[in-house]
Amino acid sequence: MGEQIQAIRGMNDVLPAEIGAWQHLESCTRELLGQYGYEEIRVPLVEHTELFKRAIGEHTDVVGKEMYTFTDRGGDSLTLRPEATAGIVRALISNGMLRGQRHKLWCLGPMFRHEAPQAGRYRQFWQVDVEAVGWHGPDVDAELIALSARLWQRLGISGLTLQLNSLGTPESRRDYRTRLVEYFKAHESQLDADSQRRLGGNPLRILDSKNPEMQPLIRGAPLLTDFLDDESRAHFAQLRQLLDGMGIAYEVNPRLVRGLDYYNRTVFEWITQSTGAQNAVCSGGRYDGLIAQLGGEPTPAVGFAMGVERLVALLLAARSLPPRRPDVYVVVNGERAGAEALRLVEQLRDQRPGLRVEVNLGGGNFKAQFRRADKSGAPLALIVGDDELARGVVALKPLRSDSGQSECGLAQLAAAVDAALGAPAPAHG
Ligand code: HAM
Repeated sequence: MGEQIQAIRGMNDVLPAEIGAWQHLESCTRELLGQYGYEEIRVPLVEHTELFKRAIGEHTDVVGKEMYTFTDRGGDSLTLRPEATAGIVRALISNGMLRGQRHKLWCLGPMFRHEAPQAGRYRQFWQVDVEAVGWHGPDVDAELIALSARLWQRLGISGLTLQLNSLGTPESRRDYRTRLVEYFKAHESQLDADSQRRLGGNPLRILDSKNPEMQPLIRGAPLLTDFLDDESRAHFAQLRQLLDGMGIAYEVNPRLVRGLDYYNRTVFEWITQSTGAQNAVCSGGRYDGLIAQLGGEPTPAVGFAMGVERLVALLLAARSLPPRRPDVYVVVNGERAGAEALRLVEQLRDQRPGLRVEVNLGGGNFKAQFRRADKSGAPLALIVGDDELARGVVALKPLRSDSGQSECGLAQLAAAVDAALGAPAPAHG
């Protein structure tokens, strides 16, 4: 036997036991986004490295130390996408889709970041990414937040809280940055190694530090909110009013700065109450400058992305999804019966396309087949046997109730299955 090949650390298989939750999340999301007028877009998993450097920022953790970058056979530097916004903006520009037009777009797929894997943090992870391009807001910001709130409701996920902040304009952020650097420099001896590294490149990220020893220093730091320009201040006030009007609760967190450089004004994050460090399930904000920065017509935009693995974990914890099981398990008894069972079952599948039918494949004695039927979870077994076929009938045996075995003529099979299952065939989740 050859040596086993290991999976890559931080890259997960999604196995059939979990796939129901994934599919449920995907179909709820797809339906809801359609109801809000969002259209799906699919962009490549790989882009020129330059795109992410320019969009996300050289000094961010993502670009600085987490990208999967390689040189392809043609000598180009390419990168597996660490997020979807940059690629979507690139697609809008490349396809000439801006020019005063507006777009509501969403995208589902895997992203790649070379982070230290732990529960809820992976190197390949999936996002549902949602972008509204062409609106200044704050109405569109509010609607996007309402959309996400409605999704949690539909999925039955509770206990998420919304954190909200405004980053103002690039200018107000620059002023703030200067003051913040002054402040931290004055207390440099209290900075941990991570924060000292960030002081030069990305001092706002120091505010995100999870290190408990850093918290008193962070609490004393100047607040971005005090540096906001008048227009951003008004934009933020209106957004809060709109959210209040819709009854959406939020918490203003003046230290919420986000890890990607393209944001301005509105930023938000939905976080779980759970104590783990990986508590953001959905985050985003406004990026009015990005499109022009990447060479497109200046166009305002706002969006967010949610982490599918993190939501699936909440979904699985919140409620048990209906197990996947066949409606009918077909037990085969005898030589002639094998071929006849396959034929009969295909006929049944023609007549009842919604029915889940599992035929015993690969033989096995009667007892073993019944054990499999029982294990499958099916509520009903059909017995197709040489004896029964000789009499022109099939036997039906309920597996989860005390009602006894019965028989039906071959031509009445579909109707008899309906009756035994309590027609119509049960819906599947
Ligand atoms: P982000 O905050 O980097 O934003 O990621 C969005 C979400 O993806 C996070 O809230 C989290 O749920 C999930 N996520 C991020 N990293 C990981 C990881 N290593 N493992 C598992 N889940 C993860 C963005 O990516 C922006 N592009 C969002 C956006 C769209 N802003 C505007 N438009």
